Amino acid sequence: MALVNEHFLKLPGSYLFSDIAKKVNAFKVTHPGKNLIRLGIGDVTRPLPPVCIEAMHRAVDEMANAKTFRGYGPEQGYDFLIEAIIKHDFASRGISLSPSEIFISDGAKSDTGNIGELLRWDNSMGITDPVYPVYVDSNIMCGRSGTLDENGKWSNVTYLPCTEENNFIPELPKHRVDLIYLCYPNNPTGTTLTHEQLKKWVDYALSNDTLIIFDAAYEAFIQEPNVPHSIYEIRGAKKVAIEIRSFSKTAGFTGVRCGYTVIPKEVTAASLDGQRIPLNPLWNRRQCTKFNGTSYITQRGAEAIYTPDGQKQIKETINYYMENARIMREGLKKAGFSVYGGINAPYIWLKVPEGMTSWKFFDQLLYEVNIVSTPGVGFGPSGEGYLRLTAFGQREECQEAMQRLQNWI
Ligand code: MLT
Repeated sequence: MALVNEHFLKLPGSYLFSDIAKKVNAFKVTHPGKNLIRLGIGDVTRPLPPVCIEAMHRAVDEMANAKTFRGYGPEQGYDFLIEAIIKHDFASRGISLSPSEIFISDGAKSDTGNIGELLRWDNSMGITDPVYPVYVDSNIMCGRSGTLDENGKWSNVTYLPCTEENNFIPELPKHRVDLIYLCYPNNPTGTTLTHEQLKKWVDYALSNDTLIIFDAAYEAFIQEPNVPHSIYEIRGAKKVAIEIRSFSKTAGFTGVRCGYTVIPKEVTAASLDGQRIPLNPLWNRRQCTKFNGTSYITQRGAEAIYTPDGQKQIKETINYYMENARIMREGLKKAGFSVYGGINAPYIWLKVPEGMTSWKFFDQLLYEVNIVSTPGVGFGPSGEGYLRLTAFGQREECQEAMQRLQNWI
């Protein structure tokens, strides 16, 4: 008999967003006539930029012709996209990377979930709390998280609370951890770290020999000048950090699927006999074995984002979402809520009314106001008492949601 990987049995019953989808479906069955406004999962609503559509059409035509048809592509991604990424996302900020340090993927979720394969199961890990559930769940799957206690915390995970009390700025761990996940601009709180604040983490990693997995999926939403777009803007980060990026939110690729991971040649982990092992060739080996690359058509679409028209078009869409965020922040404040985020990120994090839990308030919003949200506690114990709304909705729906909330309150 095949034996199951018992760590899967420790996972919460279902993935957070599947749980919410089930609750929403149950509501729809029992309340068929209700007009639901969905501000739950961070899924985009604006169509792809026209430059991407045109580029993908051209790529489809190439696929229709024996002379230009392409089969398997490079597992690491096509040079045309890697070069555009290096030039626009890094060189323009004074960061020098070589093409072999970039790996094109089918999105940040897969890479944040899979990257832990490079590390032994018994590394200690730290996370900011609340946190994107993929970081914790993927570590549960390989046994790295340990066991769950009655407070909803995993025994081998160091939780770094981000709450109103510390203005959502996590403190450095009190003891050394091997691996740390950071996501900035942050999902779910929508908050950011300044250069100085992020530098503390890089310095911690350098002096403690800690590996940072830096999820920069929301980088394109940064509006303020002192917020780093890449961890490599901080001196020394290339020795200690892997950065993961996504086109999902930047360019509406949630359904198309494309992102990339940067593993500088200098990033290493130790072998048991104390040698420094570079992670870049290991990830390359992993990708060549398990991944056949992102589709050519998709990568041509992603490349188009970096043209002048592409940059203009994504900016328009990002501005649209950030205007939603502004409307929502103001609407929520008017309704009396304490509101965070939504300035450099498309997520609004709000305090639920005194004495209520996140799930209770989620249910109330669903049943009484017909708004879908995400309960803060779904992102970790420190998310209890908070709720997340996304700014990725349609403008009229965001406005209507704020109106409904103000009337209801
Ligand atoms: C979210 O709602 O947090 C995101 O949509 C999740 C994701 O990007 O996978």
